Amino acid sequence: MNYKFFLSFLSFIIVLMACNSSPYRQGEALYVTNCANCHMEDGSGLGRNIPVLAQSDYLVTHRNQLACIVKYGLKDTILVNGTTYHQAMPGNAKLSDVEITNILNYVFQAWENNLPVIHLKEVTMSLETCNDNFVKYFADFIEKR
Ligand code: HEC
Repeated sequence: MNYKFFLSFLSFIIVLMACNSSPYRQGEALYVTNCANCHMEDGSGLGRNIPVLAQSDYLVTHRNQLACIVKYGLKDTILVNGTTYHQAMPGNAKLSDVEITNILNYVFQAWENNLPVIHLKEVTMSLETCNDNFVKYFADFIEKR
């Protein structure tokens, strides 16, 4: 193998590895594992049972509560793009703050959502408010905390 070819091959592999382990890729993988069976891989939800994440106005109006929803679930009556939903969403109490940040950033960038990036600090701060302000809305909050 010629040396130049080997070097470019090596850099190709390094770039490939960097892409796979990027926060966006981790967010996507976590989304597929934890969210896609309900919200669908394309974020379209499921009729009147599961709300959409693609172009959801709720993502914009409830930005500060999204980390709490991902971690502890939601059991409320909510309005998303003019449709009412009242099924419960289970929590993902095992996800770390970093994983929640990566999932939210994936959702914010996927499906042409184009929402501003959310930083780890913002997620951690939101999570500190779950207990005080939103406890009544969370599904199984007490058990999973
Ligand atoms: C078992 C099905 C299910 C799973 C799995 C699930 N959700 Fe939900 N999700 C729901 C339901 C149902 C609601 C509406 C809850 C309500 O009305 O109180 C909801 C609401 C939401 C909302 C607010 C409404 C909207 O559409 O903008 C967000 C954001 C959300 N889910 C994100 C996620 C993310 C991210 C994951 C993965 C970590 C996830 N969900 C996993 C069923 C699910």
